[in-house]
Amino acid sequence: MVSKICCIGAGYVGGPTMAVIANECPHIKVVVVDQDKKKIKSWNNKSLNELPIYEPGLKELIKNTRNKNLFFSEDIDKAINDSDMIFMAVNTPTKKTGKGKGFAADLSSVEACAKRIALKSKSNKIVIEKSTLPVRTAEKIKEVLKKFNKKNDFEVISNPEFLAEGTAIENLYKSDRVLIGGENTISGKKAVNELVEIYKNWIPHSKILKTNVWSSELAKLASNAMLAQRISSINSFSVICERTGASIQEMSRAIGMDTRIGPKFLESSVGFGGSCFKKDILNLVYIARFYNLNEVADYWHGVVKINSYQMLRFAKTINNHLKENTNKKVVSILGWAFKKNTNDSRESPSIYVSTYLLEREVSLKVYDPMVPANRIKSDLKNYFVSNGIKINQVNKLLNNCVVCNSLKEAIFDSSYVAILTKWDEFENFNWISHLNNHKCKPFVFDGVNVTKNKSHNNLYSLGN
Ligand code: NAD
Ligand code: UGA
Repeated sequence: MVSKICCIGAGYVGGPTMAVIANECPHIKVVVVDQDKKKIKSWNNKSLNELPIYEPGLKELIKNTRNKNLFFSEDIDKAINDSDMIFMAVNTPTKKTGKGKGFAADLSSVEACAKRIALKSKSNKIVIEKSTLPVRTAEKIKEVLKKFNKKNDFEVISNPEFLAEGTAIENLYKSDRVLIGGENTISGKKAVNELVEIYKNWIPHSKILKTNVWSSELAKLASNAMLAQRISSINSFSVICERTGASIQEMSRAIGMDTRIGPKFLESSVGFGGSCFKKDILNLVYIARFYNLNEVADYWHGVVKINSYQMLRFAKTINNHLKENTNKKVVSILGWAFKKNTNDSRESPSIYVSTYLLEREVSLKVYDPMVPANRIKSDLKNYFVSNGIKINQVNKLLNNCVVCNSLKEAIFDSSYVAILTKWDEFENFNWISHLNNHKCKPFVFDGVNVTKNKSHNNLYSLGN
């Protein structure tokens, strides 16, 4: 029976998943390691407000388990050698260079982990793919393990993660399913059962789904693609609503009441953000093209294209309105996280909308309850630099962006407000009273449907 687990990657997946395993399996010692020493230090910070990621319910779990059976460590090699089972929860971003650039997943971190596991292991290990990986990656991982370690046996299992940020702990506790893909051999089945034994501590047996490795890997990419496709579908209708006088909220409700369709993931927005949907679909597009399935590739690529179109459409709406109505081009941007209840801003629509406006000489006042100012500035800087803008020009553009400490500060004196993240704080604010009473006679661009009276003259509500 497994009694020692190691997880390589202390990020948005590694941290919360291991905290839940440690909490539910006090008989197992869990060590989470990362090459980012600063991150490990933050995970070990005495103050639970300084953890590197924000997730509701995470602090409490860390408090219960840290330094009891959950440890965060910089010593990757020791943790590998000491464990029976090793989870790989490292990042798999879109490749920036080389073959497949702009589409394929960059597997260099996964390959580096596999090599390290092979070199540092002095006993047999079960290796778990927790990262989202292209179909047939397990084969490559096995090759690397075999090449660098001829003495020990390694079983590679796919166990993709389906948690969504902002609800990670809830999702981990009440998973719709836990997917485990393993080889149909005696040792493969044994390894799968070892992992099942861990999940059985809190997941009902009926929700643990065993498949072959390739189905498991592909099901993860397909799940994300299907979820993102619903958002792009509803967003494509939002512009038709605006042209025809239909309301996107009324329409979503009507569609979602069909039990065959269901109500979830039908909320129109400025577009989906986050580190995964776009990169996973681009990866799917790459895989389809690799197998010469161009129609399939084009179909899924359309989901990403509609998303870019939606973000651009929102940014242009703001800019055109400013051009027609004012010389004083200042906009308050509310929300930087890609969704509420997370401090993660990777691929956030706010980055795309803000950079578009800054490049058109609009000044910004940004506020987010969880994303710190240095992160906001570095997101902007990285975007500009990766789009070929020279550093002195980047610094000039950044000077036109001020980060505020509160909603009040951000909208005080502001004639234009754009809402991009559905934080409760923005949803609970009385926007109609603000529109009616504020001396500036502000105009609000609501990209996430938090304002109530859609027909107010000083309101642009997306999809209405
Ligand atoms: P992350 O960037 O938050 O964390 C990854 C961590 O891995 C980083 O801290 C990085 O320093 C570390 N790392 C990278 N290479 C390493 C190496 N060679 N040795 C040691 N540490 C290394 O990423 P994440 O959001 O946790 O995502 C991880 C994987 O899980 C990705 O494949 C992603 O697609 C998938 N996933 C993410 C989510 C999510 O909500 N974020 C959900 C499901 C699946
Ligand atoms: C998503 C999936 O929901 C998870 O199952 C998956 O594990 C994860 O990706 C992953 O592989 O990384 P996440 O990106 O964290 O999770 O968050 P979501 O709740 O899916 O939201 C993604 C984006 O879509 C957000 O920007 C959100 O605002 C947007 N969204 C979501 C909409 O615009 N409309 C909706 O109806 C739902």
